[in-house]
Amino acid sequence: MLKLGVNIDHVATVRQARYPGLLDAHNCEPDVLAAALVCERAGAECITVHLRSDRRHIQDADVFRLRERLDVRLNLEMGNTPEILEIALRVRPDEVCLVPEGRREVTTEGGLAVVGNEEELRETVARLRGAGIRVSLFVEPEEGQLDASAAIGADMVELHTGAFANAQGAAQLEHLERIERASVHAFQAGLKVNAGHGINYSNIRLIRKVPHLSDLNIGHSIVSRAVFVGLEAAVREMIFMMSAME
Ligand code: PXP
Repeated sequence: MLKLGVNIDHVATVRQARYPGLLDAHNCEPDVLAAALVCERAGAECITVHLRSDRRHIQDADVFRLRERLDVRLNLEMGNTPEILEIALRVRPDEVCLVPEGRREVTTEGGLAVVGNEEELRETVARLRGAGIRVSLFVEPEEGQLDASAAIGADMVELHTGAFANAQGAAQLEHLERIERASVHAFQAGLKVNAGHGINYSNIRLIRKVPHLSDLNIGHSIVSRAVFVGLEAAVREMIFMMSAME
């Protein structure tokens, strides 16, 4: 059955909008840890946060507090930089998802270029795995990237669903087929297969049919829905939509 990982970066975005530059934000609203515990209570099986180099939303202190208090898995999204890698090795989240990171992007854009960067990624994957952290790579649904991910020792891939989410009609169905083919390919290569980016309460009807998917990491749509119905209800609704059989 599909499992939900809730990305709570945008809870921190709201906090940082009021308290810009604040690095140890545990006394400020909205509390990221409190949000994570609500998601946990509502049935999320993983909490995902992206510690960006520019610290635009999640702060180092958030990640350490989450590590200490969560019962469900903590998935740390991060760029492959020495600074963030050292933090990950200290935090020891259950999982790390390596993502490309551009300073000016609003959110993660393309997938990670595993092909062509095998050596540096192999080393990071080995260091994280050596610390007992399972490693995922956020990649485009392309066979070359999946084969390279398996070859450098990743445990999992997260298939980038952004292009699918941005498309409509026939084009969207073409993207869906690409994701389906990629999921089968990754599964056959021995990788655990997750997916994320742009998944919402509408396109989940298509995504949930993709074979072999394990976790879906969903952020913006859930936090947006929470403005109207509350976070607990928003998470429960998404879990219901993920399991609906129509
Ligand atoms: N997965 C990855 C690797 C991401 O970078 C993001 C965005 O932070 C997400 C999932 C969640 O995307 P969204 O906020 O569009 O649901």
